[in-house]
Amino acid sequence: MKRLTIAAPAKINLILNVLGTRTDGYHELETIMHKIDLIDIIHVEATSEGITVESNSGLIPTGVDNLAYQAAALLMEYNGIKAGVNIFIEKNIPVGAGLAGGSSDAAAVLTALNRVFQLKLPDDRLQEMGAAVGSDVPFCLGSETALARGRGELLTPLDRGPKLDLLLVMPDFQVSTAEVYRAYKIKNNYQPADTAAFIKFWQSGDIINIANCISNDLETVSIPKHNEINHIKTDLRQAGAVNSLMSGSGPAVFGIFADQKTAINALDIMQKLYKRVYQVTSYYRE
Ligand code: C5P
Repeated sequence: MKRLTIAAPAKINLILNVLGTRTDGYHELETIMHKIDLIDIIHVEATSEGITVESNSGLIPTGVDNLAYQAAALLMEYNGIKAGVNIFIEKNIPVGAGLAGGSSDAAAVLTALNRVFQLKLPDDRLQEMGAAVGSDVPFCLGSETALARGRGELLTPLDRGPKLDLLLVMPDFQVSTAEVYRAYKIKNNYQPADTAAFIKFWQSGDIINIANCISNDLETVSIPKHNEINHIKTDLRQAGAVNSLMSGSGPAVFGIFADQKTAINALDIMQKLYKRVYQVTSYYRE
């Protein structure tokens, strides 16, 4: 096998609790991550030498700053691969959005190169390399939905839950994840959102209560700075969403709808207000 094409889905955070700071400069998280069917398509091809990254999007770096590049470099170095690889990224996931687009591309490259170079690396080895590339990469390598702890790399997979009908809105600006975390202030008497209650509703497929449990501590940084995030949240609810939330470090915002009909109806309304609106569902392959 010389070449392979693989899907790299985006994720949203249905809960994101920031529990505290860590000595390594990261934050201790407790987060529910969920894959959605907004996907980049990654083509990898073995070449004689070097790593090249190309994309149909001019918005992503193609050198060492690209997480997919870093994933390929790490995997090839650790496994003594002398050949090269060309990576082509068909970009559909908004960049700098809080949707793990770069991390998902990196995860797809690890999975694809494991097969292209017939390395037979076990999942835990891929997870380790993924964590070295970025905190969200291990989740992107694994299950559709998971509870993540630590930096985001300690994963407890959740069983498949209900198929969520979502609208996603990407504002006209991007944010830096590192800057958002740097500005985060731990509150006195902090009460994290109830992940146990969420998981109970997830297991029973109770979409209304799932939607009522969603929460993201990083909104306390991003909303005061970018009021548009709040406007989008309100507009999504007025258009019929049960609830709405910023994903990850933002600024993308999603709304959860009771059913597909309501979501389609809201798509019409939201497209009149915002340029980049996506109707998406959970990423369940079969
Ligand atoms: O791991 P990743 O490179 O995606 O993280 C980007 C930045 O976000 C980190 O440099 C760090 O500043 C911040 N971060 C954090 N705590 C986490 C994950 C990310 O402080 N759990």
